[in-house]
Amino acid sequence: MISRGHAAAAWALLLLLLGAAVAQHEGNVSEEYAASFASRYDAPPSWAFPNPRLRAAYAALQAWKQTAIFSDPSNFTASWVGANVCAYNGVYCAPSPGYGGGGGGGLVVAGIDLNHADIAGYLPASLPLGLPDLALIHLNSNRFCGVVPDTFRRLRLLHELDLSNNRFVGAFPEVVLALPSLRYLDLRFNDFEGSIPPALFDRPLDAIFLNSNRLRNPIPANLGNSPASVVLMFSMD
Ligand SMILES: *[C@@H]1O[C@H](CO)[C@@H](O)[C@H](O)[C@H]1NC(C)=O
Ligand SMILES: *[C@@H]1O[C@H](CO)[C@@H](O)[C@H](O)[C@H]1NC(C)=O
Repeated sequence: MISRGHAAAAWALLLLLLGAAVAQHEGNVSEEYAASFASRYDAPPSWAFPNPRLRAAYAALQAWKQTAIFSDPSNFTASWVGANVCAYNGVYCAPSPGYGGGGGGGLVVAGIDLNHADIAGYLPASLPLGLPDLALIHLNSNRFCGVVPDTFRRLRLLHELDLSNNRFVGAFPEVVLALPSLRYLDLRFNDFEGSIPPALFDRPLDAIFLNSNRLRNPIPANLGNSPASVVLMFSMD
């Protein structure tokens, strides 16, 4: 006969497994799926936010923390609770010139800086949908894995993307070629593999760092087109 305690433990295990199964679905999924997934983390309607963008940011950050961050040994995201997303550790808000009434100036999440947090997890497809104003993403020296979801193409204002020293895999993340504002790209020390798309060197980037991946080395004919003042493709060691 199964005791009450055992039954409860079995239920807890089942829920844990279901939770893990759900989490694994939010990698590189469609925008529709990602949006409906993030909506499960919507703040209660009674919570006050300065504007709807910050309410959407709340859901995106909670979906990330609660389903796609598996380890946070230094408690970097411990402050990610409640409605004041601008006070979350590593989350930076700024007035948006294009948002918030006639002259703009509505507060939006403009940056995420988790450098050296040693966090393990992945990038959910819902993240860019709830944070479309991001100008800066710095994830240097964490344990993020998986691929860069296609929904990153929504980050029209993204200027700096630093994914260096993580465990990202898969082909070169082509989605970065579709980011009109991107100027700084650092993919060093990951497990990206395959060839480097020549189109990268036609992009208006100031700095490109690709070394210490599994990328193949043909020197693209259009390398000279790149306006970047720094291009580091191969390991210097
Ligand atoms: C993500 O999914 C889309 C659509 O299925 C696919 O075209 C794309 O290559 C995938 N991206 C990655 C990085 O796996
Ligand atoms: C993080 O929080 C947990 C649980 O509250 C605690 O046991 C641990 O010591 C904290 N770690 C650090 C580095 O503060």
